[in-house]
Amino acid sequence: MGFLDEIPGHRRPFPPPAEKQVGVGVVGLHEGRTLLIGLERCSRARAVAGCDLDPAKLEASRKERPDLFYTSDLNQLLARPEVEVVAIYTPDAEHGEHIVRAFEAGKDVICTKPLVSSMADAAAVLAAGRRTGRRLLVGQSTRFFEPFQRQRAAFERGDLGRLELADAHYMHRMDWYYRKSPWAARDTDWAFLGLSHPIDLVRWYLGSVEEVHAFGLCSHLGQDFGLQGVDIYTVNLRAVDGRLGRVLGHYGLEELPSARNAIELMLYGSRGSSQAQYHDMRYRYTAADGSEICEDSLYALRHWHFNSEVHGMHYGEFANYTEAFATALLEGKPCSPSLEEGVESFCVMEAVRRSAKEGGPISVSPLLEEVGLKGDS
Ligand SMILES: NC(=O)c1ccc[n+]([C@@H]2O[C@H](COP(=O)([O-])OP(=O)(O)OC[C@H]3O[C@@H](n4cnc5c(N)ncnc54)[C@H](O)[C@@H]3O)[C@@H](O)[C@H]2O)c1
Repeated sequence: MGFLDEIPGHRRPFPPPAEKQVGVGVVGLHEGRTLLIGLERCSRARAVAGCDLDPAKLEASRKERPDLFYTSDLNQLLARPEVEVVAIYTPDAEHGEHIVRAFEAGKDVICTKPLVSSMADAAAVLAAGRRTGRRLLVGQSTRFFEPFQRQRAAFERGDLGRLELADAHYMHRMDWYYRKSPWAARDTDWAFLGLSHPIDLVRWYLGSVEEVHAFGLCSHLGQDFGLQGVDIYTVNLRAVDGRLGRVLGHYGLEELPSARNAIELMLYGSRGSSQAQYHDMRYRYTAADGSEICEDSLYALRHWHFNSEVHGMHYGEFANYTEAFATALLEGKPCSPSLEEGVESFCVMEAVRRSAKEGGPISVSPLLEEVGLKGDS
């Protein structure tokens, strides 16, 4: 026990490097730069290369990690033998092509959310994964944030009893994002870009989804930015086993963060309820005597998740999922959310988009069949 162990915020030191580490090459160095830095928190994975079309992005990463290989050409990164895992953080519409190229170069892949945003890309990545035998982890960051990990552990211990209803939202005003990344208004839909978080969370607990019924509306903010689709979604979901889910997304709102965190997951079980929040770091749950308990780890873990800023980028979640994937690769074990699970979640998002656009409920299973996936994953 050293001096730093006594100080709040130093209870989870960065671990020493393991004997065998997986080399990670990162493509797309805006959000991906977070992973290059976040990899310092990993034991079984290390950064080896970075790739971006924009010389300014390459330069910014080179300043922080001068020891790595940098290129603007994805083929050059794919040709490096020390790159064992390609981590993809390019705009959503490019994920499908980049995943297939990485698989075909013999690499395993981490792809940020959303895995893909079209039926054609969903079919292509699934086929390429089967053809090459390579593995993929979907970077669903929220699952790997501290309160969501604690909530999951309690659920797996059976603390909630039988889960009956899962309720998740992701609410975030996005004018700054449209200015930074115009493709977000032009080339995708919030059913994929934003709802990928709450839909993944609900599916994580309910398993395969049978049917969705969604409504959508374009906010004033969305109209100002010439949005192609809608940016307000309300969704009801029914799982194959009959349990229920609800998902909400709003990307043009005035935020009230102390009333509603950006992302929240409520679980209602037969013996208790629980709630996990991002980006405050609170986990609330029913104790055995019925009391409400709140665990707040923001100040204990801000060094891990936010690089010691109070709130910041996704360093901790990206490190947590990369460590989990590297461990799974080194030990030959499964890791979730896998390629198949990501494709299934994509089909739920596509059903949501169609339901809001066309009106009425949509069954998910015809979409699964169309992309080449059938059954629970
Ligand atoms: N919580 C999360 O996990 C989280 C948060 C934010 C964004 N994202 C996802 O991360 C991805 C990137 O988002 P962002 O905000 O960083 O977008 P961005 O537009 O800021 O950055 C994308 C980067 O990719 C680079 N790029 C584009 N095509 C490329 C190519 N062919 N080769 C190499 N580089 C290329 C661009 O130059 C740019 O620097 C998106 O898919 C987004 O949905 C995930």
